[in-house]
Amino acid sequence: MKLDYAKTGLEISAEMKAKALAANALLHSGEGKGNDFLGWVNLPSSITDEELSAIEAVAAKLREKCDLVICIGIGGSYLGAKAVLEAMTDPFRLLKKAQNDPTVVFAGQNISEDYIYSLMEAAEEHSIGAIVISKSGTTTEPAIAFRLIKAAIEARYGKAEAAERIVAVTDQARGALKTLATNEGYPTFVIPDNVGGRFSVLTPVGLLPLAVAGVDVRALVAGAVQMEEQTKEGIAFEENPAAIYAAVRNLLYADGKKIEILGSYEPQLQYINEWWKQLYGESEGKEGLGIFPASVTLTADLHSMGQYIQEGERTLFETIISVAAPKNKVVVEADEENLDGLNFMAGKRISEINRMAELGVQLAHVDGGVPNIRIEIPQIDEATIGGLLYFFEKACGISGYILGVNPFDQPGVEAYKKNMFALLDKPGYEEASKAIKARL
Ligand code: PA5
Repeated sequence: MKLDYAKTGLEISAEMKAKALAANALLHSGEGKGNDFLGWVNLPSSITDEELSAIEAVAAKLREKCDLVICIGIGGSYLGAKAVLEAMTDPFRLLKKAQNDPTVVFAGQNISEDYIYSLMEAAEEHSIGAIVISKSGTTTEPAIAFRLIKAAIEARYGKAEAAERIVAVTDQARGALKTLATNEGYPTFVIPDNVGGRFSVLTPVGLLPLAVAGVDVRALVAGAVQMEEQTKEGIAFEENPAAIYAAVRNLLYADGKKIEILGSYEPQLQYINEWWKQLYGESEGKEGLGIFPASVTLTADLHSMGQYIQEGERTLFETIISVAAPKNKVVVEADEENLDGLNFMAGKRISEINRMAELGVQLAHVDGGVPNIRIEIPQIDEATIGGLLYFFEKACGISGYILGVNPFDQPGVEAYKKNMFALLDKPGYEEASKAIKARL
């Protein structure tokens, strides 16, 4: 991975370099804010062969029995698996005849009646299983989806077989899901206490659904291990891409750049953007502070958001994940009539045109006052994606500490839950119910 911030025009001061290194050291010493949730820092290198084998064994069983596995979770219990799955699998796999891997779909990340209806209707045509993921074991959205999907699996296969088709990923000891999984005899994986949801993609939260989908989770973890090594305490600032990225974004923020747009010219990385938005939004957006994380998928969004980025309010900077080489080769062919006027591109690979778009956009945006950070990965594969995930996690921890917040809590997400429970007349919310209904 290469990180290039030349197009931000910034020079990183000695003071900021020292701050970034100190923040990194704090993550490793465990003496900073939110230090109950630092299990992710050394997570990649701590994953044992036995743990991976256990994940692969349960995944193999689901792969054998099911051609559709419904993965239920929200937030950090959803976005990591979704992001890597979209990055690693053929976007048109469902249209292709040869299906060696089960299809993994997601539920519990919304409360849409039409979404769950449609999914359950489709599930009737398949041999199904489910992975239910919730660290707290009490989150409403996945709990609703799981109640419905569990009932459908039990109705179809009976309770005993359902226990062969449902796997739970949850807290070691607490929460309704843990109790339920124990009572029903589901195979269960533990989300470590000291790893928060948005940092949990390299635990069974991400690894199990990915292994079911046929993703090489060992290579994913190996890529993360390499990045853990490259960003560990004691690495010089100039050699540590996570420290550099964290420093640059904090300098840009101090300079009035309040919005960071993450983008890529590969649509398969769209959900990496979504995962990243949660990671940075929940980690830094508190105490009236924090860069607002936004995203674009290019070149599509140049035809929607491009105008704003080029000429709108100058509070933006961009971070582009640039992929050096595609997996496949497609060339623009010459056309005798040349009615579309494209013969000047004849013989060029699509990736070459995409690269010129990227370079052209970069300069246009920089000229328009949008500083640009470029993260280049050699190609999209498990190892580079594993490295990228850990890079963003490490940079997020460093960046949050530079900003001065606790990057590992999310007190703000409770507000909507209280209102929703009050509106739904949950027992215990009687006073809040009256008060909120009066406000409607
Ligand atoms: O990052 C977080 O902690 C949150 O986004 C959680 O992952 C999300 O709220 C889901 O929580 P749980 O896994 O407890 O159901």
